[in-house]
Amino acid sequence: MKTRIVSGIQPTGNLHLGNYLGAIRNWVRMQDETAAAGGDCFFFLADLHAITVYNDPAELRANVRAMAAALIAAGVDPARATLFNQAAVPAHAELAWLLNCTARIGWLNRMTQFKEKSGKNREGASIGLYAYPVLQAADVLLYGASHVPVGEDQKQHLELARDIATKFNTDYHVDLFRLPEPIIPPAAARIMSLRDGGAKMSKSDPSDASRINLTDDVDTIAAKIRKAKTDPEPLPDTAEALDGRPEARNLVGIHAALGDESVADVLARHAGQGFGQFKPMLAERLVETLRPIGARLAELARDPAELDRLLAAGAARARDAAAPMLAGAYDALGL
Ligand code: ADP
Ligand code: NA
Repeated sequence: MKTRIVSGIQPTGNLHLGNYLGAIRNWVRMQDETAAAGGDCFFFLADLHAITVYNDPAELRANVRAMAAALIAAGVDPARATLFNQAAVPAHAELAWLLNCTARIGWLNRMTQFKEKSGKNREGASIGLYAYPVLQAADVLLYGASHVPVGEDQKQHLELARDIATKFNTDYHVDLFRLPEPIIPPAAARIMSLRDGGAKMSKSDPSDASRINLTDDVDTIAAKIRKAKTDPEPLPDTAEALDGRPEARNLVGIHAALGDESVADVLARHAGQGFGQFKPMLAERLVETLRPIGARLAELARDPAELDRLLAAGAARARDAAAPMLAGAYDALGL
């Protein structure tokens, strides 16, 4: 049967190099690899998941568009992958309700992520946060996903989706839901702050110099790398020798991630260089990767109607694709 990958991403704004190398880029790869294997991808902005905790409505709306724009700018092709926001396809919420009636309270009580996310104030958490994994099950079962990319923390949720699908098929004597298999994505790069090698590069860092934003222009990128914190030592010839030099390790790591290499590969070429030599070369590589993305982002920012049109077209395709499964579920239930 045909490979179909379904994956959601939390909408977030002010996107930076860490988001690109750690997350966004993987969507482009999944799209290209799946297409090469004759399959297809459904990618959604998980706005229904975002509201399980309070989100400022204007910010949420802006973040959905910012994340969608970043995915497209980075190479997700809305003509090949079906890209949409979850809320624009009511079948997600509808199927989630139907599956809430199959999922067992005991199953959800075992979900470790709810325990972590609700913390000490479990009684004050939303029902939505508790039922989040059932919505995730609906997200993937709706499209007959064959594969779902899951990080370590999401494995348990995919198992739950499979349990729900199996119980539904069994209870209602149907062969409706396909059981999705996990794909474990390759370990993503973890990019650190340019000002403090002990902190993650993050949009919430008050120092703009700590991160490279996807919207930074060429001169800003070069200046941020030039001013990035380092040490006076030259680059060593082994990755281990970067232990205790987090800022140096981060810059080499960024170079490695850009070229899909290991830190050792980069050091094999640049050992002995000081940062006066290494930084300009790194800045050039960054600009090469980020300039086309920034240009496409600027285009989309100038023409918001185009982004809306692309998302609306994706949602229309997703609604069509979801309709038969949802109808099958209603029918199986006698509704
Ligand atoms: P931020 O930390 O800036 O608030 P988010 O938490 O919104 O970023 O993360 C969105 C996505 O980007 C997640 O998949 C996350 O793992 C990835 N990501 C965020 N920061 C980094 C980073 N510094 N390095 C690698 N990946 C990152
Ligand atoms: Na964060």
